[in-house]
Amino acid sequence: MSEQSEIRTVDTNRRGVIATFTGIGAMLIAGFGYMAFEYIRSSKLPRASNIIVSKTKELFAGKKNTTVHFNGRKVFVQQRSETEFVAHSMICTHGSCTVEWQERSSIFVCPCHNGAFNSDGAVLRKPPERPLVALKTTYDVAKDQLTIIETEL
Ligand code: FES
Repeated sequence: MSEQSEIRTVDTNRRGVIATFTGIGAMLIAGFGYMAFEYIRSSKLPRASNIIVSKTKELFAGKKNTTVHFNGRKVFVQQRSETEFVAHSMICTHGSCTVEWQERSSIFVCPCHNGAFNSDGAVLRKPPERPLVALKTTYDVAKDQLTIIETEL
């Protein structure tokens, strides 16, 4: 009798182990399935090589900077003169968090590890080692059209 009781205990443990591994296996399959779906979905999204901002004067009326979305990422555009614009990726070069523009001090601050960059994208405070990525810009005065060109984004 006591031998049978011992066997049942072993069976119960075996079922528990099988159930646990089945659960882990199901989670792994679901995880890989999701990653495969996201990879396929993102690879089908069209990627622009540049972005054209029309009516630039209207967009910058009363302000010196704005944020635009470029291939799903934020780009910060500053107007330096009537015809000169600079654009920086807002993706922190340390850990890819999105930096925030601090209007008062005119710097970018990263909320993740408190890294900071000046308005030209240079590192002011580590941990980032590299400056923010600058994007090329051109401005067509006649069309009042700003073009931001993808470089390293
Ligand atoms: S991710 Fe920006 S400072 Fe670390």
